[in-house]
Amino acid sequence: MTVDRYGVMGYPVAHSRSPVIHRLFAQQTGQELQYELLRVAPEKLEEAIRQFQRTGGKGLNITVPHKRAVFRLVDHLSERASTAGAVNTLSFRDNEIYGDNTDGIGLLRDLVVNLGLQLEGANILILGAGGATRGIVGPLLEMQPRNLCIANRTLQRADDLVERFASHGPVSACSFDAVPVAEPYGLVINATSAIHGGEVPPYPEAAISSQTTCYDLSYSLHPTPFVQWAQEHGAARAVMGWGMLVEQAAESFHIWRGVRPDTKPVLKQISITA
Ligand code: ATR
Repeated sequence: MTVDRYGVMGYPVAHSRSPVIHRLFAQQTGQELQYELLRVAPEKLEEAIRQFQRTGGKGLNITVPHKRAVFRLVDHLSERASTAGAVNTLSFRDNEIYGDNTDGIGLLRDLVVNLGLQLEGANILILGAGGATRGIVGPLLEMQPRNLCIANRTLQRADDLVERFASHGPVSACSFDAVPVAEPYGLVINATSAIHGGEVPPYPEAAISSQTTCYDLSYSLHPTPFVQWAQEHGAARAVMGWGMLVEQAAESFHIWRGVRPDTKPVLKQISITA
């Protein structure tokens, strides 16, 4: 009997926790599958995906920097992937490629189910206006917040996202030094990639109060600079994106295997082991 094959394609990809997460899901649900780390340079992406498909692969996670490039290779695109402008999950069935995006639902599950946040009527601030932000604005607006403000170093990029999502709900744009603070924020999400350059942007202090949950889409075994900053500025709590990572993986697993794993024990294990 051949074992169903899955994997994650990225560049670099060595740091990915996805193989461990999917192995734990498979153990927990009694499924037999193989999950590989696939380091693929951008110019080799199409060839690598086609080869994976040809050799009987069942599904792939797609990570940085390929989430947009993979768009043109899929035969069927889910609505949420189309809205996000990015694909993180491929399924191979009947010689066709299905593209989906589980990042947004992964974030929502972590915020609502794991952290118990009430998003309906909430004031939300997102820091950053890149690809990560684009993937989460649609799902967050579906939760009917009172307002969702996107703050970015380059105002034009935040304005562009507002234009794109204006029909989805109450969304506005600002620069870091002009964040509106008339109402306290229940949730501030860091979606900048500043951490990769080792920099800490001028995060807006006035946006943080003792009612604010600060959530960093980045995760690390040590508190990220944003989490440290949030703690120092009196946020109610400051959380790294381990939960989103595990929840988006669970959604991919569900798409592929039709079974939803219990994320709690996996989240506990993954966020404390390197
Ligand atoms: P991703 O797909 O991770 O979102 P991206 O599309 O390159 O990556 O977007 C990176 C985001 O982090 C942008 O919002 C970027 O701000 P600009 O649009 O002004 O470039 C933000 N960012 C990166 N480094 C930053 C820094 N040092 N200070 C503030 N914002 C930064």
